[in-house]
Amino acid sequence: MLLSVENLVVKYGNIEALHGLSFHVEKGEIVTLIGANGAGKTTTLHSVMRLPPPEAPRVVSGDIRYQGESILKTQPHVLVDQLHMALVPEGRHIFGNLTVEENLQLATYARKNDSRIKHDFERVYSLFPRMAERRLQRSEQLSGGEQQMLAIGRALMTDCEFIMLDEPSMGLAPLLMYDVFRTLKRLNAEGLTILLIEQNANIALQFAHRGYVLDTGEIVAKGTSAELAADPEVKKAYLGG
Ligand SMILES: Nc1ncnc2c1ncn2[C@@H]1O[C@H](COP(=O)(O)OP(=O)(O)O)[C@@H](O)[C@H]1O
Ligand SMILES: [Mg+2]
Repeated sequence: MLLSVENLVVKYGNIEALHGLSFHVEKGEIVTLIGANGAGKTTTLHSVMRLPPPEAPRVVSGDIRYQGESILKTQPHVLVDQLHMALVPEGRHIFGNLTVEENLQLATYARKNDSRIKHDFERVYSLFPRMAERRLQRSEQLSGGEQQMLAIGRALMTDCEFIMLDEPSMGLAPLLMYDVFRTLKRLNAEGLTILLIEQNANIALQFAHRGYVLDTGEIVAKGTSAELAADPEVKKAYLGG
C-alpha cells in the first residue's frame, strides 16, 4: 500500500471537517476522490501534505501512512524531497511574474546537482509542447489550461513518484481538459501513482481505476470506476442522472 488514510478525523478550530475518513492508494493506481463543493476534498489533501498554518487542518485522530510509515509528524519538505510526494494545489499557485522555465527550475531546488534535472526538463517539454513554446514567457500570460500544465510540470520537476491533484479540470475548456487527463494517463503508464481529487465526477471516473465518493467529510461509496459510474445514487448525485 502506498498511501493509507485511516479513520482520519480533522478539525478547523472546533469544527470537524472530516469524520473518520479511510481510503488507500496502491502503487501504480489512479485513484479518485469525488465530491461536491465543501465535501472535504481539499482538506483531505492538505491533511496529507500539511500546508503551514493558518490554512492547516488539524488532525485530531486517525493516521496517514505512506509506504507503511506514519507521516503525521513528517515535515512537508521531507514528504517532497525524500518521499517523492507532490501536490498540485487547487488554483495552481504558480509564480506569475516568473517565466515558465523559472517556475520549473524553482521546483528542483532540493535536488542540487541531480544529473537527471536536464532530462526532466526535456520530459516536461515533450509532455507539454506548449510549455516548450512558452518557455520564456511570464507565467501570468498563460491560459488556465496552460497554467494547469505548468503546475503539473512543476510537480514532475520535484522527481515525484506520487502526485495528488486538486481539481485539475477546474476552469478548463473540454479539449484542454482531455489533453491534461490524457497526459496524466500517460504519466501513470510510465509509473506515476496518482490521487485525483475532482468535483467533475464524469471525467474523473473515465480516467481513474478506482474511486471514493466523499460527502460532508465521510466516504459514502467506493468501488472501481465502472462500478461507481453504474451506481444509481452516484449517477443521480454526481453524473447528471
Ligand atoms: N481554512 C478553513 N477554516 C475553516 N473551515 C474550513 C477551512 N477550509 C475549509 N473549511 C471547511 O471544511 C469543509 C470542507 O472544505 P474543503 O475541504 O475545502 O472542501 P472541498 O475541497 O471538497 O470543496 C467545508 O465545510 C469548509 O467550509
Ligand atoms: Mg477544494
